Amino acid sequence: MNLLAIETSCDETAAAVIAETGDPARPWQLKSNVVASQDAIHREWGGVVPELASRQHLRDICGVVDRALEQASVGWADLGAVAVTQGPGLLGSLLVGVSFAKSIAWSRGIPLVPVHHLAGHIESLVLQHGELALPAAVLVVSGGHTSLYFIRQPGHYELIGRTRDDAAGEAYDKVARLLGLGYPGGPIIDRLARGGNDRAYAFPVSRMTHADRNQPAATAPPGLLPPHLARSVDFSFSGLKTAVMRLVQAKGAMTDAEIADIAASFQRVVVEALLDRTFEAASWLGARSLGIAGGVSANSRLRADAEARGAKAGLPVFVPPLSLSTDNAAMIGAAGLRRFRAGITADWDLNAEASLAL
Ligand code: KG4
Ligand code: ZN
Repeated sequence: MNLLAIETSCDETAAAVIAETGDPARPWQLKSNVVASQDAIHREWGGVVPELASRQHLRDICGVVDRALEQASVGWADLGAVAVTQGPGLLGSLLVGVSFAKSIAWSRGIPLVPVHHLAGHIESLVLQHGELALPAAVLVVSGGHTSLYFIRQPGHYELIGRTRDDAAGEAYDKVARLLGLGYPGGPIIDRLARGGNDRAYAFPVSRMTHADRNQPAATAPPGLLPPHLARSVDFSFSGLKTAVMRLVQAKGAMTDAEIADIAASFQRVVVEALLDRTFEAASWLGARSLGIAGGVSANSRLRADAEARGAKAGLPVFVPPLSLSTDNAAMIGAAGLRRFRAGITADWDLNAEASLAL
């Protein structure tokens, strides 16, 4: 069966066609993956402007879907289902994709499958590498999320850690802005950091290790992790961002070399914070594989360090290829086929949801 997938949760308009292979170990085949990025539009404002994003989705969606079908050599009559990102994301942006997918499903008389954006990021790993050895620990790091999941059964994602404030990608984007670099900041900091000294500055990263009655309960379900670990697998990046801000204010004008050193030092701390917790939780939980997905998984240092740690720990580490790490519809198609085969379809009153639990 061919499934058409649509993703419009933030600032990329994306469509893809995914087919089933019949092989349980490698269940899905990518037939096309088309993304129209709005980076050039939002760059001018230093971040995503929701109203501009939804209007651009409207302009782009027809052409993007046409191209996805054409590149897959698939006609409307060959589609067995349509999957769409229902949330979380920007409401106006999500609505464009949800309405478009609904119209296709209704006019073709085929099922509509609602997909959670983060399920898509997680399933991008399976689309690329085949089914992960379970149980698996999967870290989703993007502009909007930093969430660690434990997967014991395919399609069941247990949240065991998340950020208390900024997402990792958001920290990259904000620090890039403080340094006067462009948008999105992640790829720029990644590139500059390669030429900097990652020990030039000792930035702090908070770790919630101590019980505190003012502190919210840990994210992991009780009993899954020992209390000290459950607390420490929650992330926090806003203090780090403030530390960079103070340094930049104190310095005033900076040379390119200083900017590269700040970028490298910032990146080292973010990558260590992400990997320390993920590997610790994975080891405690007896994970047989570890995945990292989402826009920040495109980061060259995160990928290299994760692979090195995995090799040392004897734990297979999986990351998506760059084309599947930032937002795309192929991952929504993969998660959509998983849900469709689990019997999940939507009614015609399906609505976009800006916040949605996985
Ligand atoms: O998954 P994604 O495309 O969108 C969301 O769902 O948020 O992630 C976008 C985020 C942005 O914050 C961007 O700066 C970050 O991913 N990003 C990176 C890199 N490429 C994209 N962060 C660090 N290093 C990169 N190479
Ligand atoms: Zn995303």
